[in-house]
Amino acid sequence: MRVVLGVGGGIAAYKAASLLRLFTEAGHNVSVVPTESSKQFVGVATWEALSGNTVSSSVFDEVEKVNHVRLGHEADLIVVAPATADLLARAASGQANDLLTNTLLMARGPVVFAPAMHTEMWAHPATAANVATLRSRGAVVLEPGVGRLTGKDSGPGRLPEPEAIYAAALAAVEPGPLSGTTVTITAGGTREPLDPVRFLGNRSSGKQGTALASAALAAGAKVRLIAAHMDVPAPAGVELVSVETALDMRAAVREAAADSDVLIMAAAVADFRPDRTVETKIKKSDDVPDPVITLVRNPDILRELVQDRDASATAAPRLIVGFAAETGDASADVLEYGRKKLARKGCDLLVLNRVGRSLVFGQDETEVTILSPQDSDLEPAGTIAGTKSEVSARIVARIAGELAARRS
Ligand code: CTP
Repeated sequence: MRVVLGVGGGIAAYKAASLLRLFTEAGHNVSVVPTESSKQFVGVATWEALSGNTVSSSVFDEVEKVNHVRLGHEADLIVVAPATADLLARAASGQANDLLTNTLLMARGPVVFAPAMHTEMWAHPATAANVATLRSRGAVVLEPGVGRLTGKDSGPGRLPEPEAIYAAALAAVEPGPLSGTTVTITAGGTREPLDPVRFLGNRSSGKQGTALASAALAAGAKVRLIAAHMDVPAPAGVELVSVETALDMRAAVREAAADSDVLIMAAAVADFRPDRTVETKIKKSDDVPDPVITLVRNPDILRELVQDRDASATAAPRLIVGFAAETGDASADVLEYGRKKLARKGCDLLVLNRVGRSLVFGQDETEVTILSPQDSDLEPAGTIAGTKSEVSARIVARIAGELAARRS
């Protein structure tokens, strides 16, 4: 297909070279349209050599080809990476003061913006309004990644990784099985504070939840990731909500559930929390007895959500997916515990994991069984094994299938 790659004037412009390679290596014909200021970061020679096409920023080059009309009309896809605050503002207000903004006005196909800027600029109401305007007109504006920015600062504002932009761009051209749906995923392990420096935690790394988020993004969904403590970064492109405790997570999930089509509870939520959090550090002393920690039950977020959904008129989220971490013991095996948990939680699907100290937690490989209340004993559920990414793609495919079945 014909792709226009618009490059804005930000330091992340160099990463657009990797994105360009992903398109050209897949056989797409890419015309790069850099803004004037982006050439401070990457020169025209780089874009011409990598794309094999002539490159211009101005409507007054090669006037006989009428590039300011032709490029937009002919493009099957326009991707802008990095999309700076200035470029988003110019695009939102419909300006036509260089070749790229002209091309955006002439677009006939999907347009994808991959923002990159400092956190303050991204969070500024002016930028938020411009992003909302562009989205309301049908453009895809990706969420930036979170992490180290150009200076010493870090936060939301990193250009999403080229692979994530590439996947989102392809999904914009050919909608994936979850296009048009909002998927909320919880990930990581909650931490329940004892005092300002200590907490009760668990071994969840967040790898399964983030792999599911990437798979849902690749399937075209809008993804909201409610992340407790994770050892891995959130994938670029998700809307990230960071939480610490089970109670924080419950509040975030309840808020997100109202406009979600799918909820996937992949987080390891602490079942118990200390009955109180001491305001100052707990000290040891020979004069007082050692502390005894009393635990109280946390709410079961998944079960509550299913009950609320079933009692509500909106019936959102349409599909609620739970995870179960089981070791099995002398009284029941893993599958038996999984079936009981599915019945107890009432969710629509339950992804069953066999766990142990070196099984699943923190690992890249996993093996799961997807249980549904419709399973019959005659046809036991099959097992899916592979990397957490491979398994996540299969789980997401199953979710898309369930949604489609509910629609029809
Ligand atoms: N879960 C939840 N709220 C909790 C505990 C768990 O929403 N307070 C969710 C998890 O996110 C997961 C599912 O419930 O999707 C099962 O979690 P798991 O720890 O396996 O089950 P528990 O309900 O805690 O049961 P038990 O530990 O007794 O096996």
